[in-house]
Amino acid sequence: MQNRNYLFTALVVAALLLACTHETTNPNSPSNTSTFSSTCSPDSVYFVSDVLPIINSNCAMSGCHDAATRADGVQLTSYSTIMKYVRAGNAARSKLYEVIIDTDPGDRMPPPPRSPLTAAQIAKIQKWINQGAKNNSCASVCDANVFTYSGAVKTMLETKCVGCHSATSPGGNINLSTYASVRTVALNGKLYGSIAHQTGFSPMPKNSAKLSDCEITQVQRWIAAGAPNN
Ligand code: HEC
Repeated sequence: MQNRNYLFTALVVAALLLACTHETTNPNSPSNTSTFSSTCSPDSVYFVSDVLPIINSNCAMSGCHDAATRADGVQLTSYSTIMKYVRAGNAARSKLYEVIIDTDPGDRMPPPPRSPLTAAQIAKIQKWINQGAKNNSCASVCDANVFTYSGAVKTMLETKCVGCHSATSPGGNINLSTYASVRTVALNGKLYGSIAHQTGFSPMPKNSAKLSDCEITQVQRWIAAGAPNN
């Protein structure tokens, strides 16, 4: 009898220990370490290259949802903080998605006078959530020999800069949402100076990782070609 009780207690303790171990290694708990694929699948949306830049430049700015401001207690600066507002696999029931599609300007994010996210940005976030909201990344296929405005520069600016540099919220009085206004900062040296982190310029994108060497080269070559609308 004594032995049996002992065995039972031992089993309960073992089960509890296992439960605890399971808890700490739960694969579903948000971790800020992303899983990396060497190639980018065109059917997948990646957190690191597709989603985070949109959130960085449209939600996590100073005065909004950065670590210092945390407007409404909401911080959106990393995978783990963003996941508090995401139900993996179910965009429709994710707070993050609900607020970006809200048609009531009083509830929509980003709030007026900022523009809503574009349909393409909303679709990306929706697809990422519905694909499981993974902390995934891939080696982006950036070709430094492709440096047209429409084929390289514009998309990069829209993903990583325009949230803070639109007509309605021009950070530092700089609007990067139209070709004409991008051309001005391209030709006066500010665009390259800021993304290359040259001294005398504010390093951009603000509060985010520096652009890749390939992206910087694309912009540099486009400017050297006269910043054409090509
Ligand atoms: C989170 C908001 C934010 C993002 C994202 C951002 N910027 Fe800025 N940017 C600012 C603010 C605010 C300023 C004004 C100067 C400052 O506060 O550093 C500024 C200033 C600039 C300037 C003027 C720099 C100077 O020294 O005169 C340029 C050019 C610029 N940004 C380009 C970019 C580009 C290109 C990107 C994307 C690769 C980008 N920014 C991303 C907020 C942002």
